[in-house]
Amino acid sequence: MERSLYERLGGIGAITAVVEAFRDRVAADDRINQKFVKTDLARLTKMLIDQVAEAAGGPNKYTGRSMKEAHARMAVTNGEFDALVEDLVATLNQIHVGKAEQDELLGMLGPMKDEIVEVDSNEVGTPLPAAYQPAAPMRS
Ligand code: HEM
Repeated sequence: MERSLYERLGGIGAITAVVEAFRDRVAADDRINQKFVKTDLARLTKMLIDQVAEAAGGPNKYTGRSMKEAHARMAVTNGEFDALVEDLVATLNQIHVGKAEQDELLGMLGPMKDEIVEVDSNEVGTPLPAAYQPAAPMRS
């Protein structure tokens, strides 16, 4: 049987390394980092690791909100979504994730675009609306 994407990526250690490097790249990217000013990054990092690991066939369980709910009233544009995907591809290249695995991961994200983008515009660096309420911080 073919190995799962989770195994081919290198398991939880490799997925954690990808998510942490991706988070740092997004934090430094002025095209999208304003959207994260109210966010608890510890929670976001954990949620992303669980989401990717589960979707790739690993044993983790994602316990966060739906993509629609998590990104509601954030006013994310098409251009900002594309910027985030660009940051992910740059991270995957930096960490030497193979082309086949990259394509599988990106194939999972494409269908989420409609649930996340609220503003049909190519603009980037748009502010987080003042009324936006983030998730409660994670308790450690
Ligand atoms: C396919 C692309 C994306 C995926 C898979 C994704 C995934 C996630 C996940 C799993 C969470 C955590 C939800 C929770 O805590 O319940 C989250 C939260 C968040 N996402 Fe995304 N996201 C994507 C695109 C974007 C884009 C394009 C932006 C903005 C430019 C964005 C901004 C945020 C922010 C600010 C939060 C934190 C929300 C909060 O503090 O409550 N995301 N995302």
